[in-house]
Amino acid sequence: ILQNVSTKKGQAFHFGSTYDTYDADQAWFTTTFQTFYKHVVSENGCKWDATEPTQGVSDLTECLATQSFATSNGNTFRGHNTFWHEQTPTWLPGSFTASQLTGTIIPQHVQQEIQGLGSSVTSWDVVNEVVGDGVSNGMTPLQCVQNKGDWPTVTADGSGQPLVTDLSFIYAAFNTAFTYAGASTRLAVNDYNTGGQDAKTACVISLIQNIQENTNIPYDRLAIGFQSHLMASAGNFYTKQELATTFSTLAALGVNAMITEMDIEINSDNNANLRYQAAIWGDYIDACLYASNCNEFINWDPRDDLSWRGTAAAATLFDSNGNPKPAAYEVAARL
Ligand code: XIL
Repeated sequence: ILQNVSTKKGQAFHFGSTYDTYDADQAWFTTTFQTFYKHVVSENGCKWDATEPTQGVSDLTECLATQSFATSNGNTFRGHNTFWHEQTPTWLPGSFTASQLTGTIIPQHVQQEIQGLGSSVTSWDVVNEVVGDGVSNGMTPLQCVQNKGDWPTVTADGSGQPLVTDLSFIYAAFNTAFTYAGASTRLAVNDYNTGGQDAKTACVISLIQNIQENTNIPYDRLAIGFQSHLMASAGNFYTKQELATTFSTLAALGVNAMITEMDIEINSDNNANLRYQAAIWGDYIDACLYASNCNEFINWDPRDDLSWRGTAAAATLFDSNGNPKPAAYEVAARL
């Protein structure tokens, strides 16, 4: 019934969702990724706990299996993620100094993953959620990252501060990613509550500029991933115009924009809420389709009963029976 969104003004447009081999209802996944979603990201299989469960020993079994699923269904594949303070392996938190992390542990992990998945990966979230929620306008990139309260889950001394005395751990991750990624793989800073004209979005933009200045990675290889975990009733989403303004700021720099984890909690899936959800989805996909620099769009979890937001949130494009909701038709109508 639904066509896939696969081309955009002559460019490849990658529109897809999450997948892992242990998800329920694999038959539905196969059908839906062959016909509607055409781009795959592993929901959990490429995270650090899954890919380096023993220090120094790379285990890409699930990550590679999700990439194989993509390839065998004619889909493209994006990587999520090489560095995050959550879902870390048990050997990591609290065990290493900042210089060990920056000099060895982080680059080794980034290399293992990016080399292992190969050059066809469209983009990698090189660092995930490194900017704080309490940031304000005018903060430097370092202040934006220091504002994040979660570094104790990674660093050795429990204060978290050694890792963020400077941004060298981020430069190390990006330099390694650039060395081992394919020639057109985009390298992203990925974060939530971003996309408009606000302090956190200003932080991710200044951070990507700072990364460029300190690594010399060309701007057209860099990207900002806007996760877009939204809540309709709380008004927790951006307008099409706000998104367009942000995307064009990045286009002026030559940086890519991507929507990487979109879902919209509506709580009750009555008709009014479903229409509201569809309208927001339409605005986001329009903003991306009409921007010259937005070529990837991922829905986080492909159907309501499999959503990390919970079934009751009704946050995805397909209902718990796997049937398309109004938002799915809204996307399909953009073809
Ligand atoms: C979530 C997954 O969907 C869950 O299955 C898992 O238990 C926790 O992580 N931001 C991210 C994603 O970058 O990796 C998170 O995914 C959702 C929030």
